[in-house]
Amino acid sequence: MLFWRVKPLDKILETAEKKALTRQLGAFQLTMLGIGAVIGTGIFVLTAEAGQKAGPGMMIAFVIAAVVCGLAALAYSELASMVPVSGSAYTYTYGVLGELIAWIVGWALGLEYGIGAAVVTVGWSGYMNGLLANTTLFGLVQPGALALPPALQTGLFAGGSFNILAFGIALLVTWLLVIGTSKSAKVNSVLVAIKIIALTLFIVMALPVATSHTANFTPFLPGGWGSPLGGIGVLGAAASIFFAYVGFDAISTAAEETKNPNRNIPIGLIASLAVCTIFYLLVGYAAVGAVGAQPIMGPDGVPLEPGSQAFAAACKGSEALVCSHEPLAHVLRLIGWPNLGNWIGVAAILALPSVILMMMFGQTRIFFTMSRDGLLPERLSRVHPRFHTPHVITLATGLVVAFCGALFPVGKLADTSNSGTLLAFAMVSIGVLVLRKQQPDRPRPFRTPFAWIVCPLAVAGCLLLFVNLSMVAKGVFAGWAVLGLIIYTLYSRKRSHLAPGNEQH
Ligand code: ALA
Repeated sequence: MLFWRVKPLDKILETAEKKALTRQLGAFQLTMLGIGAVIGTGIFVLTAEAGQKAGPGMMIAFVIAAVVCGLAALAYSELASMVPVSGSAYTYTYGVLGELIAWIVGWALGLEYGIGAAVVTVGWSGYMNGLLANTTLFGLVQPGALALPPALQTGLFAGGSFNILAFGIALLVTWLLVIGTSKSAKVNSVLVAIKIIALTLFIVMALPVATSHTANFTPFLPGGWGSPLGGIGVLGAAASIFFAYVGFDAISTAAEETKNPNRNIPIGLIASLAVCTIFYLLVGYAAVGAVGAQPIMGPDGVPLEPGSQAFAAACKGSEALVCSHEPLAHVLRLIGWPNLGNWIGVAAILALPSVILMMMFGQTRIFFTMSRDGLLPERLSRVHPRFHTPHVITLATGLVVAFCGALFPVGKLADTSNSGTLLAFAMVSIGVLVLRKQQPDRPRPFRTPFAWIVCPLAVAGCLLLFVNLSMVAKGVFAGWAVLGLIIYTLYSRKRSHLAPGNEQH
């Protein structure tokens, strides 16, 4: 029976009601929160990665990833409206599929948010390095005078030695989280506005160039559709670019602070995803059309693996879009708008740290909840006497994020983060169906339309993208899963607050 130890939904709701937070967020703020968490490294940086895998066909990859995310968002909305408490997929699965599955999901969310934060630190560093190399500080210095040595611009496994800026920004955000900086709705709105303006500017400048350069769209599928091993082609690109859509689930973590959550959460989830999808499709089309996105081919006629040493070597001195660490700024420079390119860089530099903050916040709160449930050591959820933040888990997370960002290439990190997200999304979709069977009469303020079609399709979509992740990501995922199961068996199962004899908590 231990496998199916379930935390009853009513108990989850009761705990949340006891420690109620003020309900102040409406549909508009939630949508802004979603857009704030979604637009980040994915569109600003991984566009190059997607181009290297799929060429101009990456536009199809954007659509595939959006469809999978949309299906999962519909499932998410049903559970988020039924169980409007913080904790997202981990909490839902604990209430529906039982402790073991909840543990696996919580553990996978650790990858999603923890490694996801590292992805954004690398993306941030790409834009910062680009700006340092291109700015003249309004004529005060020669272009390039401020650039860091190349070895310090990218990580050891990405063709350099130590990505010092990714390391630094991760530590800075960790410090902000320890002293208690959290998401502020006002700051978030300003940052969302900056990102939207930057993407709009990009589209306005690059789209006209794109429409007059149709030759840039051929060959359309130089990387093919994909390979059984994954990591290439349109499907490989979709599996990576999926990262660009991740984050809308952050909305569900604000469920306890939302007015009329049953109505507003589904609106927020779906509206933020819809807005981002429209922007991404336009940005993708404009980038490909304006400067082309043909992959760098290896001697065997197959695109080189992005992030590999061979790819880094082939990219030395190249102006190709697929080689850029700051593709959107790069496109504008190539089409004759160097200053606007720099301003896009400034926008990314200002806005991306909030995505890092959001992801690290998510990571610490998931592990915090798991430790409060007894599944992880209580030491981890120790709260700082002065700052009232879970500083132990925050510092531990921050160090891991900083070193991952400092050493690894952005695409491999994104794929690894996606592996965790895909598992969580699939579990949520299964959870919806299980709950429809088990508790058909429980009120469902939002019902997933055509659930028996939408949810299985969401699971199939997650599986398809998972299979197409790079081998490295799938390997890390497997290792992480085995480690998680060992910890659960040896530690968490006995210490769970739901284990026989521990129920007094
Ligand atoms: N979707 C977010 C990003 O692209 C996580 O940075």
